[in-house]
Amino acid sequence: MLTIALSKGRLAEKIFKMLHELNLCDIEVDDEDRRLILEHGDFRFFLAKPSDVPTFVDNGVADLGVVGKDTIIEENRDIAELLDLGFGKCRMCVCAPKEDGDSYKYKMNLRVATKYPNIAKAYFDSLGQNVTIIKLNGSVELAPITNLSDCIVDIVESGRTLKENGLTDVTTIHELSARLVANPASLKVKYEEISKVVDGFRELLRK
Ligand code: PRP
Repeated sequence: MLTIALSKGRLAEKIFKMLHELNLCDIEVDDEDRRLILEHGDFRFFLAKPSDVPTFVDNGVADLGVVGKDTIIEENRDIAELLDLGFGKCRMCVCAPKEDGDSYKYKMNLRVATKYPNIAKAYFDSLGQNVTIIKLNGSVELAPITNLSDCIVDIVESGRTLKENGLTDVTTIHELSARLVANPASLKVKYEEISKVVDGFRELLRK
C-alpha cells in the first residue's frame, strides 16, 4: 500500500488522471465529495491543505506527496524531491508598486509582506538587507497598496492580480512547479512501489 498526500482540487484531480492513465489506480471525485481519505487498490490518498503536505510526508504518515516547490522551500522539511511534474508553473517574486521600480533594493528598514516568511527572509539575508517581514495569510497584494508594506514576496502566475492592483514583479526569486516528494524511509522500504509511480509519471511527462 502506498499512501500519497495531495492537496484538494485541481492538483489531486490531475494526479488521479495520471494514475488512471498508467492503469495503477482508478479514483473519481466530484465537487460534492467531502471525504479526506480515498482508497483504491494499492493506493490511499490524503487530501490535505497544500502547506501541510510536507508535514504528512516528513512524519511518515504519507509515503509520497505532491506539492508546490514554494511550499517545499518554505517548509524546509526532511523530504526527498523525486520529480518535477511540470504543472502548476509560477514564480516567487518580489513585487512592488509600479512607480517604485526596483527601489526596494536601496531602502533602509524595508517592510516586506508575504505568506512565505522563510523564503522572504532567506532572500533578503542573501542580499545582506535588513527587513521587517510582515506575515499575511492571503491577498498579500493589499499590503503595499494600503501602505502596510513597501513590497511583497508572493507567487505570480498570470500576473493579473499584480496588474489589476497597480503592482509589478521586480525580481524573480524562484521558478516554481508541482513536485513529487517522498518520505526518505519509505523510499528505502517501498522502493519498488514508489519506482513504479515515478517511472510511470516520467513516461507520461515525456509524451
Ligand atoms: C495567489 C498568489 C497571488 C495570485 C497570483 O493567490 O498569492 O495573489 O495567486 O496569481 P495571478 O498572477 O495569476 O494573478 P491565491 O489565489 O492563492 O489567493 P490568496 O491571495 O488568498 O492567497
